[in-house]
Amino acid sequence: MSAEAIVGGNSVATSKVIHPGWVRITHWINAIAILVMIGSGWQIYNASPLFKFEFSKQITLGGWLAGALLWHFAAMWVMVINGIVYVTLGLLTGRFRRKLLPITPSQVLADAKAALTFKLAHDDLSHYNALQKLLYSGVILCGIVIVLSGIAIWKPVQFQELTTLFGGYDFARYVHFFAMAAIVGFLVVHVALALLVPKSLRAMVTGK
Ligand code: HEM
Ligand code: HEM
Repeated sequence: MSAEAIVGGNSVATSKVIHPGWVRITHWINAIAILVMIGSGWQIYNASPLFKFEFSKQITLGGWLAGALLWHFAAMWVMVINGIVYVTLGLLTGRFRRKLLPITPSQVLADAKAALTFKLAHDDLSHYNALQKLLYSGVILCGIVIVLSGIAIWKPVQFQELTTLFGGYDFARYVHFFAMAAIVGFLVVHVALALLVPKSLRAMVTGK
């Protein structure tokens, strides 16, 4: 029985869905796929490091280069198909426009100041503050960049134009790496905040 049927006319407050089913399902599929992409990506990196450090074996996935590539190319399909569903529905349903826009520099500054002084309110979970809008839009863009740069280094012959657009194979590798770093940076803050505001986590699981 729906909340509306139970409470009669007073249905607005009780049946208010913060995150519809498609957002929650695609969000959690993406969370798992991204963790696999990061873990396997770090193992791929270790086979031929771009910088003077390697990722500890304990936090990489795949065991060795070939194993990691298998994980990377398997989770890639999950991440890309799931991402296309999320972005398409986000655009078609108007969710992105309603929830993530507009982002004004003055609002971002004001909310950043409030956040740093612990005065940023979280009472209304259905409304994102300017920092959330900025971070969520930013990570969606990073997702698009990491997929395109990934395709550019995966099939540099078949997608020559794309690889050229990224400044060639070597440069595309750096773009891919820094997009990963940005996503990992987002994730650290994102998960910490989700744990600090548990009701936001509940809303991403149950919808309310
Ligand atoms: C369509 C999606 C993707 C494709 C086609 C793709 C493809 C690739 C390929 C071919 C490599 C090997 C590059 C080399 O030989 O050096 C690679 C490396 C890597 N990928 Fe991805 N990738 C994708 C998404 C992601 C995502 C979502 C992440 C993490 C959030 C990620 C993280 C990494 C990392 C850290 C490396 C190692 C960087 C390096 O040393 O070059 N990738 N990826
Ligand atoms: C694995 C641990 C993760 C946890 C615990 C988590 C938790 C959450 C929670 C609680 C929300 C709703 C927060 C709010 O009200 O602001 C949320 C939203 C969101 N998360 Fe995550 N998340 C995780 C992974 C990720 C990853 C890997 C990404 C992308 C790379 C991501 C991107 C987003 C985006 C874009 C939203 C806004 C969705 C929308 O409203 O359409 N999350 N997450």
